[in-house]
Amino acid sequence: MTSIDKIVSLAKRRGFIFPGSEIYGGLANTWDFGPLGLALKKNIKNLWWSEFVEKSENIYGIDGSIILSPKVWQASGHVENFTDPLVECQKCHRRYRADQLEAKDCPNCGGKLSKPRMFNGMFRTFVGATEETDSIAYLRPETAQAIFINFKNIIDTFHPKLPFGIAQIGKAFRNEITAGNFIFRDIEFEQMELEFFTKEEDWQKYFEEYLNKIRSWTKLIGLDQKYLTEREHKADERSHYSKKTVDFEYEFPFGRRELYGLAYRTNFDLKTHSQKSGVELVYTDEVGEKIIPHVIEPSLGVERTMLAVMCSAYSEDGERVVLKLKPQLAPYKAAVFPLLANKEDLVKKARSVYELLTIYPNKGRTNHQPLPVAWDDRGNIGKRYFAQDEIGTPFCITVDFDTLEDDTVTIRDRDSAKQKRVKVSNLKEEILEGING
Ligand code: GAP
Repeated sequence: MTSIDKIVSLAKRRGFIFPGSEIYGGLANTWDFGPLGLALKKNIKNLWWSEFVEKSENIYGIDGSIILSPKVWQASGHVENFTDPLVECQKCHRRYRADQLEAKDCPNCGGKLSKPRMFNGMFRTFVGATEETDSIAYLRPETAQAIFINFKNIIDTFHPKLPFGIAQIGKAFRNEITAGNFIFRDIEFEQMELEFFTKEEDWQKYFEEYLNKIRSWTKLIGLDQKYLTEREHKADERSHYSKKTVDFEYEFPFGRRELYGLAYRTNFDLKTHSQKSGVELVYTDEVGEKIIPHVIEPSLGVERTMLAVMCSAYSEDGERVVLKLKPQLAPYKAAVFPLLANKEDLVKKARSVYELLTIYPNKGRTNHQPLPVAWDDRGNIGKRYFAQDEIGTPFCITVDFDTLEDDTVTIRDRDSAKQKRVKVSNLKEEILEGING
């Protein structure tokens, strides 16, 4: 297993992830994503959307607000229950989660710690011009509630039959005070969540189905299966809404931690929102009976996925660092190099190969499936390979003097470092085959 420092260093060096507000000394538990981090995140989200939403006929996507009425969070139980026990050092005033701290005294200065007191993890803000209690609002700590409060809208507009699901990818915010472990625990992060509504008697069947879906997902994104475990929550660990929760845990370099959660939320949320809002959130079944469906919820964090993907993909082969990302997730699918940057005819030919593959420019070609492809003409070929291996580019294409004669290029495979010659006219198919298996 690699060290987290190597992942952090690669992520910064190659433009995946930068510390948040860095030029001002940073802001704990915040991160900015550079061009390659953004691409990796987008590829993860697109793949999840395709696997969990688009491939099923009965899953509906939404994009709900980040700021919901505070009444939502009162009804959902978050105002009362979304709390953690905190202790504060009486000397240096650092705060720690009491349930995550092994030491008895302050790990920073050895000072005496206060008694634990409960602290709500939701971010507060104010809606409107005044900062009065009646204008308090919260940034959502989970995307799920926007789904529950739109249940009736989906029923009324799409008339789905049970079972069906509503899915969403979006930001969530939690006032996390435990720093460290890179992007594992952030105050601002993205969730990929799905609420799958079913009749009560069927919940176990769909719980099992979603366990299997998450298992397949972890394989699809290339997670090293030996680092994955499933753990069912004990009764006293479960969230206030859950009757059964299974965590998917990953052995990160800093220890085994929760990667994803799968929860059976019963019909707690729809029931309490019905009661508190006075609007019936029900499904009318085949015999005209009104029922409040039960819910299975797979909840997956984007940043934790990204971290587990990077940890699984990181490998060293002598001098070479290779990020063995699944090609579908790789920020660039290929890179194009002219063998020498100072030979005009080579550069011109290499540009035409690059343009054949990339988005820019499309040149009016119809049926053009653009690929994200890197261009590199700096340094020597060895250095360019080294750079592309580190960012996980599956294929490197070199345009050399033979290309000018016979219109073939070398294509080098990232993982094996093996090269072969391919006709330019077959290049795109060759790459697409490599990406899509
Ligand atoms: N709607 C259920 C829910 O929010 P959760 O276990 O609190 O359940 C679900 O969160 C997932 O969201 C986690 O398994 C993790 O992937 C991600 N997550 C939670 N808190 C996070 C944080 N502070 N930073 C990054 N990801 C987080």
